[in-house]
Amino acid sequence: MNSIIENMKTRRSIRKFKGDMIPRDSIEQIIEAGLYAANGKGKQATKIIAVTNKELRDKISKSNCEIGGWQQDFDPFYGAPVILIVLADATWRNRVYDGSLVLGNMMNAAHALNIGSIWIHRAKEEFEMPEYKELLKELGIEGEWEGVGHCALGYVDGEIPKAAKRNEDRVYWVE
Ligand SMILES: Cc1cc2nc3c(=O)[nH]c(=O)nc-3n(C[C@H](O)[C@H](O)[C@H](O)COP(=O)(O)O)c2cc1C
Repeated sequence: MNSIIENMKTRRSIRKFKGDMIPRDSIEQIIEAGLYAANGKGKQATKIIAVTNKELRDKISKSNCEIGGWQQDFDPFYGAPVILIVLADATWRNRVYDGSLVLGNMMNAAHALNIGSIWIHRAKEEFEMPEYKELLKELGIEGEWEGVGHCALGYVDGEIPKAAKRNEDRVYWVE
């Protein structure tokens, strides 16, 4: 099988990460794969915030946990040391589609580099909060940006899970 297709088929969401930091070069390659995703009208109306700072990473985890309504000690990022937050121009009608492809590319790129990943939700709710809008300002990001998702990254602790069986009623051919 073609190695890229094989990579797409064997990528799985990881829910147990080692705490070790990933090399900067690998994070940059994963981000670059995201930047090259197809996007509506070629507008490139998405942004990625790469969080390797533990203090901010833990703060985001806490906010995400509160939004999700879990008990205080739950880490919705499963111990991943890196969070890539994908935002999209809040005024752009294709924002969710564009942001989702960025996330998909990054998860597949991570897997190709033997790095575990998972999409973690609730970025929208986070970036509706004043403190996260303030973070954007601090980073010099102007305008209105909607959170699409987080790509958590880290080395896999344990085995990569097996894929669930694919549902059978999903493909229809007209020949
Ligand atoms: C839009 C979206 C949101 C997701 N949000 C979460 C999440 O918040 N927490 C989580 O553990 N997994 C999350 N996932 C991962 C899915 O649960 C996972 O992709 C699905 O179970 C299929 O497993 P696989 O990625 O290993 O194929 C999300 C995936 C997508 C596409």
